[in-house]
Amino acid sequence: MPLWDATLRGEMKHSARCTLTLLASIAVSAALGLPATAQTPQGRPWMNTSLSPGARADLVMQRMTLDEKIRLIHGTGIPCDEPVTPENAKSNRGVGYVPGIARLGIPAINMADAAYGVRPSAVDGRYSTALPADLAAAASWDLRVAYEYGALIGRELRAQGYNMSLGGGVDITREPRNGRTFEYLGEDPILAGSMVASLIQGTHSAGVITDIKHYALNDQESGRMAINAVIGERAARESDLLAFEIGVTEGRPDAVMCAYNRVNGDYSCENDYLLNQVLKRDWRFQGFVVSDWNAAHSTVKASKAGLDMEQPYDVFYGSRFKAAVEAGRIPLAELDDHVHRILRSMFASGAIDAASDRVEVDPFADLRVARDIEERSIVLLKNHNEALPLDPTRLKTIAVIGAHADVGMISGGGSAQVDPPGGNAIMPPGRRGTHWLEPIWFPTSPLKAIVARAPGALVRFDSGADPAAAAALARASDVAVVFAYKWSTETVDQHSLALPGNQNQLIAAVAAANPHTIVVLETGNPVSMPWVKAPAAIIEAWYAGSDGADALGNVLFGKVNPSGKLPITFPVSDQELPRKMVKQPPAASRDTAAFWSLPKLERGKGLPPFNEDYTEGVEVGYKWFDAERKPVLFPFGYGLSYTTFKYSRLAVKGGDSPSVSFLLTNTGKRAGAEVAEVYAELPAAAHEPPRRLVAWSKVTLAPGASKTVMLQLKPKFLSVFNVEKDKWSLIPGAYTLFAGSSSRDLPLKATIHLK
Ligand code: BGC
Repeated sequence: MPLWDATLRGEMKHSARCTLTLLASIAVSAALGLPATAQTPQGRPWMNTSLSPGARADLVMQRMTLDEKIRLIHGTGIPCDEPVTPENAKSNRGVGYVPGIARLGIPAINMADAAYGVRPSAVDGRYSTALPADLAAAASWDLRVAYEYGALIGRELRAQGYNMSLGGGVDITREPRNGRTFEYLGEDPILAGSMVASLIQGTHSAGVITDIKHYALNDQESGRMAINAVIGERAARESDLLAFEIGVTEGRPDAVMCAYNRVNGDYSCENDYLLNQVLKRDWRFQGFVVSDWNAAHSTVKASKAGLDMEQPYDVFYGSRFKAAVEAGRIPLAELDDHVHRILRSMFASGAIDAASDRVEVDPFADLRVARDIEERSIVLLKNHNEALPLDPTRLKTIAVIGAHADVGMISGGGSAQVDPPGGNAIMPPGRRGTHWLEPIWFPTSPLKAIVARAPGALVRFDSGADPAAAAALARASDVAVVFAYKWSTETVDQHSLALPGNQNQLIAAVAAANPHTIVVLETGNPVSMPWVKAPAAIIEAWYAGSDGADALGNVLFGKVNPSGKLPITFPVSDQELPRKMVKQPPAASRDTAAFWSLPKLERGKGLPPFNEDYTEGVEVGYKWFDAERKPVLFPFGYGLSYTTFKYSRLAVKGGDSPSVSFLLTNTGKRAGAEVAEVYAELPAAAHEPPRRLVAWSKVTLAPGASKTVMLQLKPKFLSVFNVEKDKWSLIPGAYTLFAGSSSRDLPLKATIHLK
């Protein structure tokens, strides 16, 4: 079957932003536009792999013409979304394409979004694995999970003919109603930064160009192209920028994607402070800065501020750039720096030495990895009287209710969206494909997973549309498992923390009818739970990925002991947040379908800015709730297990290499893993929030077993950013160190003195 028959093309027209869901897997029969294979012919000294990436880039540049240099610093459109042109004909039909320089053996850059898996994959009938949402991976608190997550994405990118990832989202959750919260790694800069660094290293292991995004303070979607994030330097450095600092310095990504929004007045992609002073000077970033899609707004200003590549078009970095160089308005050395960074990253990543080896992808081969990650990320929020795990031998009747749990589990939307093999489990009526910004349900059925694990029980499903009918089924069952979901997506924030539709009523009705009610949440953001006291157990399954149902089944029935911890606070309600609601732009936002239908030259025009004052500064997430002494529903770092753990024998050491050690004991009857967390209270002179996370370790223990957990504390994580000295400084004084199982359950504490 041809890859692009007329029907599919017709469908594609309505499927803006490259999201197309096909009904069935289509085998790939032809390889399209493979990037040039790296060779070592005579006369190409840059192919000598014993030279450093920088030296190799220098050598190529000696042979490049001005036009060739310009060709490398901009995109050629969105190939998966736009007609084939002579410029993009050889692309891999991803979301970005920079043609190579064949005469010099420099391959094209084929970019794909890759937040929780490769997108767009199904456009060519090639599917990829949807991992649990990034936020879920953060809930594992396990750097190995983050590495595997990134490595799978890297492998599948290469297998599909891509050599650059557009993943690595790490904007911390300053606004929990942000529509992209699921794409990021939670609210703590040290946890999020460390996890993204590991994820980037994993992706790097596959030999693709890695990315971190969206730099910086892209903390809400509403009016994202107009919003001006206003924040003091110290607060920014210790919060949002710290996550990027750790990601950049420890993960060493090849590219940094600058964001849509402005920061303290300037657009991120022409912000000298962010790009030149912080990223390139202070963090010594050697890779290139690529604009988010249509986030470039100027030529001379952006170039001077440190933007190296415009995507997806050439509005500012094509002929205008060339003219500016020829007129001397942009020094040639500045262009050379952009080009050098891009080439250096191509060499450093392996994209040149090992050209993408596109193969037929088996979208089922990596299900095990997706399941395993989900099993380590599910968070058990409540388990009254050991309602879980379920014992199939004691259950005769099980009610499964709500959230289309008979057929699938929800996924996160927008440019993160991965196409599900087998198609959307809830396809809009009369359609073959699912459009951009429509919910996609992965065909992984919790109902089937429960039936398979309780073969002797009668398992009945109710849609939940009528809470009274669902309650009647629950009343007539030994146990009720009620599913609730909240879809979220890029470009749209959530109005509130509440579950949508009738789901609060449904849960309350079911829990009132059956005391053995288990609530399973499929969300990418924290949600409020007015019914929290009613059910016996609550599980946060996040957006659970391609094999979410099996992972969930294994947790429900105790094959897997849950070990995830919240990377994000669950507030009681919107009232406790720094802002009562997400700020909208004063005029109707153009960041919608209307925006994308503008002629491309129009899209770069600046929109009137509106300010968002981040007055809470460094007090993001739990730091805010702790500083304000507000109650929370479930605190940052919280999560239960089917076993119990005890913390004892704290010992601390100050001096030049401060450390903490304590004894962790599994006091229950099952093997389990505990994320042991260490927080620090800084000296009063530091004027910091009450506590910050400074270290953690995920420890697996057999029943009755103990382990001494020993953690070195990184001085930077105990420091504050001194704006006058323009560097991190340790405030001399007494530091109280706490150890325990969440930010609000810290049984051990001791003090060290640091100079
Ligand atoms: C998103 C980026 C994404 C890009 C390409 C933008 O709208 O903000 O995260 O990589 O599109 O799809």
